[in-house]
Amino acid sequence: MTEKDFLPSAYQNSLKEGKVTWKAPSNIALVKYWGKRPVQIPANPSISFTLDTCATTTSITFKEKDDKEVLSFDLLFEGRPKEDFKPKIQTFLERIETYLPFLKSYHFIIETSNSFPHSSGIASSASGMAALSMCLMDIERQLNPSMEESTFLAKASFLARLGSGSACRSIKGSLVQWGKHMHIPGSSDLYGVPYPFEVNAVFQTYCDTILLVHKGQKQVSSTVGHNLMHNHPYADNRFQQAGTNLNQLKPILASGDLEGFIKLVESEALTLHAMMMTSSPYFILMKPDTLEIINKIWQYREETKIPVCFTLDAGANVHLLYPVAAKEKVQMFIEDELAPHCENGQYIHDKVGSGAIKINS
Ligand code: DP6
Repeated sequence: MTEKDFLPSAYQNSLKEGKVTWKAPSNIALVKYWGKRPVQIPANPSISFTLDTCATTTSITFKEKDDKEVLSFDLLFEGRPKEDFKPKIQTFLERIETYLPFLKSYHFIIETSNSFPHSSGIASSASGMAALSMCLMDIERQLNPSMEESTFLAKASFLARLGSGSACRSIKGSLVQWGKHMHIPGSSDLYGVPYPFEVNAVFQTYCDTILLVHKGQKQVSSTVGHNLMHNHPYADNRFQQAGTNLNQLKPILASGDLEGFIKLVESEALTLHAMMMTSSPYFILMKPDTLEIINKIWQYREETKIPVCFTLDAGANVHLLYPVAAKEKVQMFIEDELAPHCENGQYIHDKVGSGAIKINS
């Protein structure tokens, strides 16, 4: 599908008012998206596990208004008006208005809340933009009931991407791929698709414990971060490497090759940080405790042969990935050895989920 396919035809229904609620999960990339060009086009393809527990629930109450020339909305975060989130939502709505011509016809009350603690250092933009996009698409589907399910999902992902790149991987599927790749059928720079190849059962129930090493604000915003890849001395090789890693992941995911998985996933995480350390300006986003945790994971894996590994996002927190069969042992290891390196001893047990769901109000 191209951008044009997401421009709707005239609406079949008219609607005075209503309310929709969706819950969308966060996701954790195995092959990282790092670098983009306007508007929200990734410099390389990426793939992520969809999470389950870490999620955003968003409701939109909408009511037809007289003035159909301007966008109008109120925003409540965890029950309270949240003025400082409004500019980001305003920009998002302006950006997607061409694709959702009904936006100026209604006043919206957007109510949103996260399952994870506020300021836990977990990015809520992926789950937040995904939940918001699902709500908006739900309204559009009420205006256009003949819309195919495949269009509904692709367009929700397309809109979410325009809010935050990684959000397009939080719509549907347990493993989601985003970004054109010549060997992945159906792949697109415009939206994420459920990974189309065989995935071994071991990965369908994989666990992810998020170790909250540093819960403060992100040191580098994602916009600044992605921009660091422009004129980066290693950018071209990095973008190519992501494509190659996706090729290599195919037999690993199909066969359940955990050794191959660990090598590739840890290398991707360290490469992401290596890109930040070698850009201009440069950043070190890992904390001493991040390194302590990584070393302990390596030592534990060596000693026990239990296939745990880590990945990182653009911050100090560590995602510990392991098969469900090892859950009991690994969670003891976390409690005994890793929790002391987390801020206030905090971590969140999560696992692979399947995407956004509608909540009936
Ligand atoms: C390191 O999706 O947050 O988590 O498109 O600017 O909103 P924007 O960026 P964002 O970037 C995520 C980067 C990453 C890797 C990944 O999730 O693939």
